[in-house]
Amino acid sequence: MSATHIGDRDVDELIRLATEATEFAYAPYSRFRVGAALMTGGGQFYSGANVENRSYPLSICAERAAVTKAVNERRADLEIIAIAVAESKGGPCAPCGGCRQVISEFARAGAILIYKDGRGIFKRVAIEEALPEALAFLTEIPPR
Ligand code: THU
Repeated sequence: MSATHIGDRDVDELIRLATEATEFAYAPYSRFRVGAALMTGGGQFYSGANVENRSYPLSICAERAAVTKAVNERRADLEIIAIAVAESKGGPCAPCGGCRQVISEFARAGAILIYKDGRGIFKRVAIEEALPEALAFLTEIPPR
């Protein structure tokens, strides 16, 4: 599956929105403020930030916050074509494995993840590359 092509302007907008969303992070424990912004098949944008909890495992990543917000506003017909992740200090921030799984649930084939890698460069990776051999115990996702 080849990666979806999205224009540089959309990529820039996703990075801008993800960076802006870091301002809303609640991260008093890690002090690692993350933002995520996704684009839907209909060209709409949704963003979210990480929300930590004093019970650490209950913390929610920015990507999941953005996906949850979008689903709640779109009655589950969400189709992600791209999602960007940013960290408030401009450092590297690759989506965690759990978030890759959650993104894949709603991702169009070839949807792209945009994030800064360890060399400080924004990379664009197709979801199938970011999450190879994704969980597939169902032949298809049930009707929503
Ligand atoms: N975090 C995210 O929000 N997204 C990621 O992709 C990686 C990690 C958050 C979780 C936690 O609040 C903080 O960053 C430190 O791990």
